[in-house]
Amino acid sequence: EGSREKIDYVFKVVVIGDSAVGKTQILSRFTKNEFCFDSKSTIGVEFQTRTLAIKSKVIKAQIWDTAGQERYRAVTSAYYRGALGAMLVYDITKRQSFDHVARWVEELRAHADNSIAIMLIGNKADLVDLRAVPKEDALEFAENQGLFFSETSALSGDNVDTAFFKLLEEIY
Ligand code: GTP
Repeated sequence: EGSREKIDYVFKVVVIGDSAVGKTQILSRFTKNEFCFDSKSTIGVEFQTRTLAIKSKVIKAQIWDTAGQERYRAVTSAYYRGALGAMLVYDITKRQSFDHVARWVEELRAHADNSIAIMLIGNKADLVDLRAVPKEDALEFAENQGLFFSETSALSGDNVDTAFFKLLEEIY
C-alpha cells in the first residue's frame, strides 16, 4: 500500500445513514484498522483513503463521511457528485435507523449517479443481545431494491473489509 505506487483508478465512495449508526467507525476500521469508543458526531464532511489492489490494478478508495444528523447536513449534490459507490449504514440494534433506510435510498436516487453501486450495511453486529432488526428483513429489502447487503461490526472488524472489497469490485 505504498504511496509511491502508481494509482490506476480513484473510486469515490460515500457513507450515509442515520446519526450514531457507526459510519465514522466503519470508515476508520477500513482505512486505519482503528476503532474509537467515544467517537464524536461528525460535523461537515471528511474523507479518508485506502489504496488496495483489485484484479491486479491499484485502486485508491476515497471514502467520504458526513454527519447523519439533519442539522449538520448541508446535503449537497457535491457530496454525491462523482460517487461510484455508497455504503448505506443502519444499526441492527436501532429499528428506526433501519426504517429510515428507504429515505436514504431515495436521497441517493435523487442526488447520485444512476449507476451507483449500493451496499446496505447492518452495523454493530457484535451487539447480538440487543438486535432489533432481523437479518431477513434487511436481506428482503436489499433484494427488492437491488442493493448488496452485509452485517458488520466496526468494533470487532467483522466483515468490514469484505463489504468494502465487494463494493469496490462491483464498481470495478
Ligand atoms: P454521526 O457522525 O453522528 O452521523 O454518527 P456515525 O454514524 O458516524 O457514528 P459513529 O461512528 O460516531 O459511532 C456512534 C457510536 O456507536 C460510537 O459510540 C461508536 O463507538 C459506536 N459504534 C460504532 N460502531 C460500532 C460497532 O460495530 N459496535 C458497537 N458495539 N458500537 C459501535
